Amino acid sequence: MKVPSTTDVVPTSVGAEPHRPLYHFTPPAKWMNDPNGMVFYEGEYHLFYQFFPDSTVWGPMHWGHAVSADLVHWTHLPVALYPDSLGLIFSGSAVVDWKNTSGFGVGGKPPLVAMFTYHNMAREKAGAQDFQSQGLAYSNDRGRTWTKYAGNPVIPNPGVRDFRDTKVLWHEPSQRWIMVLAAADRVRLYTSDNLKRWEQVSEFGANIAAHGGVWECPDLFPLKVEGTNETRWVLLVSINPGGPNGGSATQYFVGNFDGTTFTMDPTFAPAIGAGGKEASRGVWLDHGRDNYAGVTWSDIPTEDGRRLFIGWMSNWDYATVVPTAAWRSAMTVPRVLTLQRTAVGPRVFSTPVSELRLLRGETLSMPSQRLSGTTALRLPRGTTPASAEVDLELRIPPGTATDIALELSNAAGDVYRVGFDASAKQFYSDRTRTPHGFSQTFATAVHTAPRIANDSIVRMHVYFDRASAELFADGGATALTDIYFPSEDFTTMRLVVTGAAVRLQYATLSGVRAMQK
Ligand code: FRU
Repeated sequence: MKVPSTTDVVPTSVGAEPHRPLYHFTPPAKWMNDPNGMVFYEGEYHLFYQFFPDSTVWGPMHWGHAVSADLVHWTHLPVALYPDSLGLIFSGSAVVDWKNTSGFGVGGKPPLVAMFTYHNMAREKAGAQDFQSQGLAYSNDRGRTWTKYAGNPVIPNPGVRDFRDTKVLWHEPSQRWIMVLAAADRVRLYTSDNLKRWEQVSEFGANIAAHGGVWECPDLFPLKVEGTNETRWVLLVSINPGGPNGGSATQYFVGNFDGTTFTMDPTFAPAIGAGGKEASRGVWLDHGRDNYAGVTWSDIPTEDGRRLFIGWMSNWDYATVVPTAAWRSAMTVPRVLTLQRTAVGPRVFSTPVSELRLLRGETLSMPSQRLSGTTALRLPRGTTPASAEVDLELRIPPGTATDIALELSNAAGDVYRVGFDASAKQFYSDRTRTPHGFSQTFATAVHTAPRIANDSIVRMHVYFDRASAELFADGGATALTDIYFPSEDFTTMRLVVTGAAVRLQYATLSGVRAMQK
């Protein structure tokens, strides 16, 4: 098996390969899906990921690996975890075992401990139900090499077919490890003193919220309610299919966690409906089609205090057929999750990490002005809409019948729009006029996201990379992430107002540089 080495990596290919993002994380080559094992240790953010080094379609899973000092410049490292006799290495997490509760530490240094799901393909093929179990591995050299625990699996399969995606956290009040994993249509919670022996203590989610598909990749973490001293717990759960705009997506719950049991807050009502009946029962972290299986970093220093998230920027509906050649899939930009009170209850807001400014090129500002019809946007010299950041604020009194879109186009006639439809009170992303012959499900409809706020000031902050747009609307209240594959890079950016005129309060248009130093 050929393992990509650190010399095989992106620099030679970035820009040369069609659609290869300039500043989003992509594998050096071949197939990638979920982000795994994100942990911060000794100045490095680790990003592991579901990786198949032999093909550009999903296959026997390994953990690929990269590190970064700033979340935007990544260095590829050799594969961290290989399949073994217990199975393939499915999704999971990693923590710093500061107190060496596992005993894996050496020389007074804490070990990094990863917990992942074993998927035994042979048993699955044989028709068994018990082919997924949980395994452990540790590292004493800053994640460079990993030793699988001799006592694996640490949690054997209890007779549940879909039993996977362990996320571990240290629970300070009870001085114990907590682990959450997905078990069919719910999550199960476990506790442990040493990361090796686990006891199930509760479960959550059967018949609650969206169940359009199997539950996967949960995460559980505390967040302070912005502007208060109150802490609530957030439970992320990815589901496939059943997302608000079709296919896979991530829903969440806000509630209390007492060390054993997660209880949803009564004030946490289901979402203001978008999409089909089943999907409208969920509250969604991102309304686009392309933010899946995302979880948050462990062990971010308290001085930093952020809850940092990254997601897989694709969708199981078409992930294996998107038209890229050498590699498949990118991650979202890293994001900060915060918890805010809103008119519809507590909501998780997503904003891009401030480190992205390290990649910001020149910026041009547009002054306040009345906008109607179509306005060509002038970008800074050397900047193209294929790699740009746009931040704009509009004044649109509620009830105004108008629609405003940021429109990208190219000479080949491809058009992509991300915008706000004031009459429907929703943000949207429209990739139906970009090439989509590779999939029946890629561009069947315009993707919509309800607006939460009711005021006149609408803010849209969008990151465009060659093959993706990420909208953070109203300060992160609504996130919408979509990928696209224009026949050539987009070259033109315009603002298109359909209906009543609106006031542009300001707009800043910036270039974003490639992630290599
Ligand atoms: C989510 C998922 C996980 C699983 C992994 C396998 O995208 O299906 O549930 O662990 O991908 O690659």
